[in-house]
Amino acid sequence: MIPNLLASIAAIDPLPKSPPSDDFWMPTNASTFASDIDSLYHFLYWLSVVSCGGIFLVMAYFVVRYKAGDRSHNEVGDNTSHHNTALEITWSVIPLFIVIFIFVWGFRGFVDLRTPPKDTLEIHAQAKKWNWLFSYPGGHKDPNLHVPIGKDVRIIIQSEDVLHSLYIPAFRTKMDAVPGRYTDLWFNATKPGSYPVFCAEYCGTSHSDMLATAVVHEEGGYKQWLEEVSVFKGSPVELGAKMYDERGCKTCHSTDGSTLVGPSWKGIWGTDRRFADGSTGKVDENYIAESINNPSGKIVEGFAPSMPTYQGQLTDEQINGIVEYIKSLK
Ligand code: CUA
Repeated sequence: MIPNLLASIAAIDPLPKSPPSDDFWMPTNASTFASDIDSLYHFLYWLSVVSCGGIFLVMAYFVVRYKAGDRSHNEVGDNTSHHNTALEITWSVIPLFIVIFIFVWGFRGFVDLRTPPKDTLEIHAQAKKWNWLFSYPGGHKDPNLHVPIGKDVRIIIQSEDVLHSLYIPAFRTKMDAVPGRYTDLWFNATKPGSYPVFCAEYCGTSHSDMLATAVVHEEGGYKQWLEEVSVFKGSPVELGAKMYDERGCKTCHSTDGSTLVGPSWKGIWGTDRRFADGSTGKVDENYIAESINNPSGKIVEGFAPSMPTYQGQLTDEQINGIVEYIKSLK
Protein backbone atom coordinates (compact mmCIF):
# COMPACT_ATOMS: atom_id res chain seq x y z
CA MET A 1 0.00 0.00 0.00
CA ILE A 2 2.61 2.52 1.11
CA PRO A 3 5.12 1.63 -1.66
CA ASN A 4 2.29 1.98 -4.24
CA LEU A 5 1.36 5.35 -2.85
CA LEU A 6 4.99 6.50 -2.93
CA ALA A 7 5.38 5.23 -6.49
CA SER A 8 2.27 7.12 -7.60
CA ILE A 9 3.53 10.29 -5.94
CA ALA A 10 6.93 9.87 -7.63
CA ALA A 11 5.14 9.45 -10.99
CA ILE A 12 3.67 12.96 -10.89
CA ASP A 13 5.48 14.99 -13.46
CA PRO A 14 7.00 17.48 -13.12
CA LEU A 15 7.57 17.23 -9.39
CA PRO A 16 10.11 19.85 -8.46
CA LYS A 17 12.78 18.54 -6.10
CA SER A 18 14.45 20.65 -3.48
CA PRO A 19 18.24 20.34 -3.58
CA PRO A 20 19.81 18.98 -0.36
CA SER A 21 20.19 21.60 2.35
CA ASP A 22 23.05 22.22 4.80
CA ASP A 23 20.47 23.14 7.42
CA PHE A 24 18.55 20.47 9.32
CA TRP A 25 15.30 22.47 9.55
CA MET A 26 15.37 24.72 6.50
CA PRO A 27 15.33 24.05 2.76
CA THR A 28 18.25 25.16 0.60
CA ASN A 29 19.16 28.77 1.03
CA ALA A 30 19.17 30.54 -2.35
CA SER A 31 18.36 34.22 -1.86
CA THR A 32 19.77 37.23 -0.08
CA PHE A 33 16.93 37.07 2.49
CA ALA A 34 17.55 33.52 3.50
CA SER A 35 20.45 33.76 5.94
CA ASP A 36 18.82 36.54 8.01
CA ILE A 37 15.48 34.74 8.15
CA ASP A 38 17.23 31.47 9.06
CA SER A 39 19.25 33.19 11.79
CA LEU A 40 16.09 34.63 13.33
CA TYR A 41 14.44 31.23 13.13
CA HIS A 42 17.40 29.55 14.82
CA PHE A 43 17.50 32.25 17.48
CA LEU A 44 13.81 31.65 18.30
CA TYR A 45 14.33 27.91 18.21
CA TRP A 46 17.28 27.87 20.64
CA LEU A 47 15.66 30.49 22.88
CA SER A 48 12.63 28.17 23.15
CA VAL A 49 14.83 25.14 23.82
CA VAL A 50 16.78 26.94 26.56
CA SER A 51 13.64 28.45 28.21
CA CYS A 52 11.74 25.20 28.08
CA GLY A 53 14.72 23.20 29.38
CA GLY A 54 15.25 25.75 32.18
CA ILE A 55 11.61 25.56 33.27
CA PHE A 56 11.70 21.74 33.32
CA LEU A 57 14.92 21.71 35.37
CA VAL A 58 13.54 24.12 37.98
CA MET A 59 10.29 22.15 38.06
CA ALA A 60 12.14 18.88 38.66
CA TYR A 61 14.23 20.53 41.38
CA PHE A 62 11.09 21.86 43.15
CA VAL A 63 9.41 18.46 42.97
CA VAL A 64 12.31 16.90 44.84
CA ARG A 65 13.16 19.84 47.12
CA TYR A 66 9.60 20.46 48.37
CA LYS A 67 8.33 16.92 48.41
CA ALA A 68 5.86 16.49 51.29
CA GLY A 69 7.33 14.47 54.16
CA ASP A 70 4.07 12.66 54.90
CA ARG A 71 0.31 12.87 54.19
CA SER A 72 -0.36 15.43 56.94
CA HIS A 73 1.62 18.04 54.96
CA ASN A 74 -0.88 17.76 52.12
CA GLU A 75 -3.73 18.99 54.34
CA VAL A 76 -2.28 22.25 55.64
CA GLY A 77 0.31 24.20 53.69
CA ASP A 78 3.14 25.95 55.48
CA ASN A 79 2.89 29.72 55.35
CA THR A 80 5.71 30.68 52.99
CA SER A 81 6.40 34.08 51.35
CA HIS A 82 3.78 35.42 48.90
CA HIS A 83 5.80 38.04 47.12
CA ASN A 84 9.30 38.81 45.86
CA THR A 85 9.45 42.18 44.09
CA ALA A 86 13.02 41.84 42.80
CA LEU A 87 12.31 38.41 41.34
CA GLU A 88 9.07 39.53 39.66
CA ILE A 89 10.65 42.60 38.09
CA THR A 90 13.51 40.44 36.80
CA TRP A 91 11.27 37.87 35.15
CA SER A 92 9.19 40.63 33.52
CA VAL A 93 11.90 42.99 32.32
CA ILE A 94 14.32 40.44 30.83
CA PRO A 95 11.66 38.81 28.60
CA LEU A 96 10.41 42.30 27.64
CA PHE A 97 13.80 43.19 26.21
CA ILE A 98 14.08 39.81 24.52
CA VAL A 99 10.71 40.19 22.73
CA ILE A 100 11.51 43.81 21.74
CA PHE A 101 14.79 42.54 20.27
CA ILE A 102 12.90 39.81 18.35
CA PHE A 103 10.31 42.33 17.14
CA VAL A 104 12.93 44.74 15.81
CA TRP A 105 14.83 41.91 14.09
CA GLY A 106 11.66 40.51 12.52
CA PHE A 107 10.27 43.89 11.52
CA ARG A 108 13.46 44.94 9.76
CA GLY A 109 13.42 41.69 7.80
CA PHE A 110 9.74 42.17 6.96
CA VAL A 111 10.30 45.70 5.66
CA ASP A 112 13.15 44.41 3.50
CA LEU A 113 10.95 41.60 2.12
CA ARG A 114 8.13 43.99 1.30
CA THR A 115 10.18 46.81 -0.26
CA PRO A 116 11.47 46.01 -3.75
CA PRO A 117 14.58 48.02 -4.64
CA LYS A 118 14.64 50.31 -7.66
CA ASP A 119 15.64 48.94 -11.05
CA THR A 120 14.35 45.38 -10.74
CA LEU A 121 13.81 42.83 -13.47
CA GLU A 122 10.01 42.51 -13.65
CA ILE A 123 8.34 39.20 -14.32
CA HIS A 124 4.57 38.72 -14.24
CA ALA A 125 3.05 35.67 -12.56
CA GLN A 126 -0.49 34.63 -13.46
CA ALA A 127 -2.19 32.17 -11.15
CA LYS A 128 -5.17 30.10 -12.17
CA LYS A 129 -6.65 26.75 -11.25
CA TRP A 130 -4.19 24.96 -11.27
CA ASN A 131 -1.00 26.29 -12.67
CA TRP A 132 1.36 29.23 -12.78
CA LEU A 133 2.21 31.19 -15.91
CA PHE A 134 5.18 33.54 -15.92
CA SER A 135 5.49 36.33 -18.52
CA TYR A 136 8.91 37.72 -19.35
CA PRO A 137 10.04 41.02 -20.84
CA GLY A 138 9.57 40.61 -24.59
CA GLY A 139 6.38 38.61 -24.22
CA HIS A 140 7.57 35.04 -23.69
CA LYS A 141 5.27 33.04 -21.41
CA ASP A 142 6.51 30.04 -19.47
CA PRO A 143 5.11 27.63 -16.87
CA ASN A 144 8.36 27.93 -14.88
CA LEU A 145 10.10 30.85 -13.23
CA HIS A 146 13.48 31.65 -14.77
CA VAL A 147 15.68 34.30 -13.18
CA PRO A 148 19.28 35.50 -13.44
CA ILE A 149 21.63 35.10 -10.51
CA GLY A 150 22.52 38.17 -8.46
CA LYS A 151 19.81 40.44 -9.89
CA ASP A 152 16.90 42.03 -8.02
CA VAL A 153 13.77 40.43 -9.45
CA ARG A 154 10.24 41.64 -8.80
CA ILE A 155 7.35 39.27 -9.45
CA ILE A 156 4.04 40.99 -10.16
CA ILE A 157 1.28 38.56 -9.24
CA GLN A 158 -2.30 38.27 -10.47
CA SER A 159 -4.99 35.63 -10.20
CA GLU A 160 -7.64 34.79 -12.77
CA ASP A 161 -10.01 33.03 -10.41
CA VAL A 162 -9.52 32.36 -6.70
CA LEU A 163 -6.92 33.03 -4.02
CA HIS A 164 -3.56 31.37 -4.64
CA SER A 165 -0.18 32.05 -3.10
CA LEU A 166 3.20 32.09 -4.80
CA TYR A 167 5.63 30.36 -2.46
CA ILE A 168 9.34 29.80 -3.16
CA PRO A 169 10.81 28.23 -0.01
CA ALA A 170 14.42 28.38 -1.23
CA PHE A 171 14.09 32.17 -1.52
CA ARG A 172 12.18 32.40 1.81
CA THR A 173 9.42 34.42 0.22
CA LYS A 174 5.69 34.07 -0.39
CA MET A 175 2.84 36.30 -1.54
CA ASP A 176 -0.86 35.75 -2.13
CA ALA A 177 -2.37 36.01 -5.60
CA VAL A 178 -5.65 37.88 -5.19
CA PRO A 179 -8.29 38.10 -7.96
CA GLY A 180 -8.78 41.68 -9.12
CA ARG A 181 -5.68 43.03 -7.46
CA TYR A 182 -1.95 43.22 -8.13
CA THR A 183 0.41 41.91 -5.48
CA ASP A 184 4.16 41.52 -5.69
CA LEU A 185 7.24 40.03 -4.13
CA TRP A 186 10.93 40.45 -4.81
CA PHE A 187 14.15 38.57 -4.23
CA ASN A 188 17.76 38.36 -5.31
CA ALA A 189 18.82 34.78 -6.05
CA THR A 190 22.28 33.76 -4.89
CA LYS A 191 22.73 30.15 -6.03
CA PRO A 192 22.29 28.66 -9.52
CA GLY A 193 19.98 25.66 -9.60
CA SER A 194 16.36 24.55 -9.70
CA TYR A 195 14.02 25.04 -6.75
CA PRO A 196 10.39 24.13 -6.13
CA VAL A 197 7.62 26.72 -6.41
CA PHE A 198 4.37 25.94 -4.61
CA CYS A 199 0.88 27.30 -4.31
CA ALA A 200 0.46 27.96 -0.59
CA GLU A 201 -3.22 28.89 -0.48
CA TYR A 202 -5.80 26.11 -0.70
CA CYS A 203 -7.45 26.71 -4.08
CA GLY A 204 -9.42 23.55 -4.82
CA THR A 205 -9.04 19.99 -6.07
CA SER A 206 -5.55 20.17 -7.59
CA HIS A 207 -4.09 22.74 -5.22
CA SER A 208 -1.26 20.37 -4.32
CA ASP A 209 -0.37 19.88 -8.01
CA MET A 210 -0.03 23.61 -8.59
CA LEU A 211 3.72 23.33 -8.86
CA ALA A 212 6.45 25.02 -10.84
CA THR A 213 10.22 25.21 -10.84
CA ALA A 214 12.30 28.30 -10.15
CA VAL A 215 15.42 28.13 -12.28
CA VAL A 216 18.29 30.39 -11.24
CA HIS A 217 20.58 30.83 -14.24
CA GLU A 218 24.34 31.34 -14.09
CA GLU A 219 25.79 34.67 -15.18
CA GLY A 220 24.56 35.37 -18.74
CA GLY A 221 22.45 32.20 -18.83
CA TYR A 222 19.13 33.96 -18.29
CA LYS A 223 19.58 36.23 -21.30
CA GLN A 224 20.60 33.29 -23.45
CA TRP A 225 17.63 31.25 -22.27
CA LEU A 226 15.21 34.12 -22.96
CA GLU A 227 16.60 34.56 -26.48
CA GLU A 228 16.27 30.85 -27.20
CA VAL A 229 12.69 30.55 -25.99
CA SER A 230 11.49 33.83 -27.42
CA VAL A 231 11.09 32.17 -30.82
CA PHE A 232 7.92 33.48 -32.40
CA LYS A 233 4.97 31.09 -32.24
CA GLY A 234 2.78 32.59 -34.98
CA SER A 235 2.77 31.88 -38.73
CA PRO A 236 5.82 32.83 -40.86
CA VAL A 237 3.86 35.72 -42.39
CA GLU A 238 3.06 37.04 -38.89
CA LEU A 239 6.69 36.66 -37.90
CA GLY A 240 7.73 38.59 -41.03
CA ALA A 241 5.25 41.38 -40.23
CA LYS A 242 6.63 41.52 -36.69
CA MET A 243 10.22 41.78 -37.96
CA TYR A 244 9.12 44.46 -40.43
CA ASP A 245 7.70 46.49 -37.54
CA GLU A 246 10.39 45.83 -34.97
CA ARG A 247 13.66 45.63 -36.85
CA GLY A 248 13.52 48.87 -38.77
CA CYS A 249 12.43 47.63 -42.24
CA LYS A 250 9.41 49.92 -42.17
CA THR A 251 11.56 53.03 -41.97
CA CYS A 252 12.70 52.55 -45.57
CA HIS A 253 10.34 50.06 -47.23
CA SER A 254 6.61 50.67 -47.57
CA THR A 255 4.05 47.90 -47.94
CA ASP A 256 1.55 50.00 -49.89
CA GLY A 257 3.55 50.71 -53.04
CA SER A 258 4.82 54.15 -52.06
CA THR A 259 8.53 54.78 -52.45
CA LEU A 260 10.52 55.63 -49.34
CA VAL A 261 14.31 55.34 -49.04
CA GLY A 262 14.17 51.86 -50.52
CA PRO A 263 11.81 50.06 -52.90
CA SER A 264 8.32 49.22 -51.62
CA TRP A 265 7.70 45.56 -50.81
CA LYS A 266 4.22 45.58 -52.28
CA GLY A 267 3.81 43.40 -55.35
CA ILE A 268 7.53 42.81 -55.90
CA TRP A 269 7.47 39.04 -55.35
CA GLY A 270 8.33 37.16 -58.56
CA THR A 271 8.99 40.32 -60.60
CA ASP A 272 12.16 41.04 -62.52
CA ARG A 273 14.47 43.71 -61.20
CA ARG A 274 17.03 45.80 -62.98
CA PHE A 275 20.08 46.64 -60.92
CA ALA A 276 22.37 49.64 -60.85
CA ASP A 277 25.16 47.67 -62.57
CA GLY A 278 22.86 46.85 -65.49
CA SER A 279 22.25 43.20 -64.57
CA THR A 280 18.79 41.80 -63.90
CA GLY A 281 17.35 39.23 -61.51
CA LYS A 282 14.12 37.80 -60.18
CA VAL A 283 12.70 38.56 -56.71
CA ASP A 284 12.81 35.12 -55.11
CA GLU A 285 13.89 33.64 -51.76
CA ASN A 286 17.60 33.91 -52.51
CA TYR A 287 17.34 37.47 -53.71
CA ILE A 288 15.56 38.60 -50.52
CA ALA A 289 17.94 36.73 -48.23
CA GLU A 290 20.90 38.23 -50.11
CA SER A 291 19.41 41.72 -49.90
CA ILE A 292 19.09 41.34 -46.11
CA ASN A 293 22.56 39.92 -45.51
CA ASN A 294 24.47 41.81 -48.20
CA PRO A 295 22.33 44.77 -49.26
CA SER A 296 25.05 46.45 -51.34
CA GLY A 297 25.44 43.35 -53.55
CA LYS A 298 22.46 44.16 -55.76
CA ILE A 299 21.25 47.76 -55.73
CA VAL A 300 17.95 48.31 -57.50
CA GLU A 301 18.29 50.86 -60.27
CA GLY A 302 17.34 54.33 -59.08
CA PHE A 303 18.08 53.70 -55.37
CA ALA A 304 21.08 54.64 -53.24
CA PRO A 305 23.07 51.86 -51.48
CA SER A 306 22.01 53.06 -48.02
CA MET A 307 20.80 49.87 -46.35
CA PRO A 308 22.98 48.43 -43.54
CA THR A 309 23.65 44.72 -43.52
CA TYR A 310 21.58 42.49 -41.26
CA GLN A 311 24.11 39.66 -41.51
CA GLY A 312 23.94 37.64 -38.29
CA GLN A 313 21.18 39.80 -36.80
CA LEU A 314 18.24 37.75 -38.04
CA THR A 315 17.78 34.03 -37.71
CA ASP A 316 16.99 31.88 -40.75
CA GLU A 317 13.47 31.58 -39.39
CA GLN A 318 13.10 35.35 -39.20
CA ILE A 319 14.47 35.79 -42.73
CA ASN A 320 12.02 33.16 -43.92
CA GLY A 321 9.26 35.11 -42.17
CA ILE A 322 10.21 38.24 -44.10
CA VAL A 323 10.22 36.26 -47.36
CA GLU A 324 6.72 34.94 -46.61
CA TYR A 325 5.54 38.40 -45.61
CA ILE A 326 6.77 39.90 -48.89
CA LYS A 327 5.07 37.05 -50.79
CA SER A 328 1.82 37.93 -49.04
CA LEU A 329 1.99 41.58 -50.14
CA LYS A 330 0.28 41.11 -53.49
CU1 CUA B 1 -3.45 27.57 -6.27
CU2 CUA B 1 -3.49 26.46 -4.19
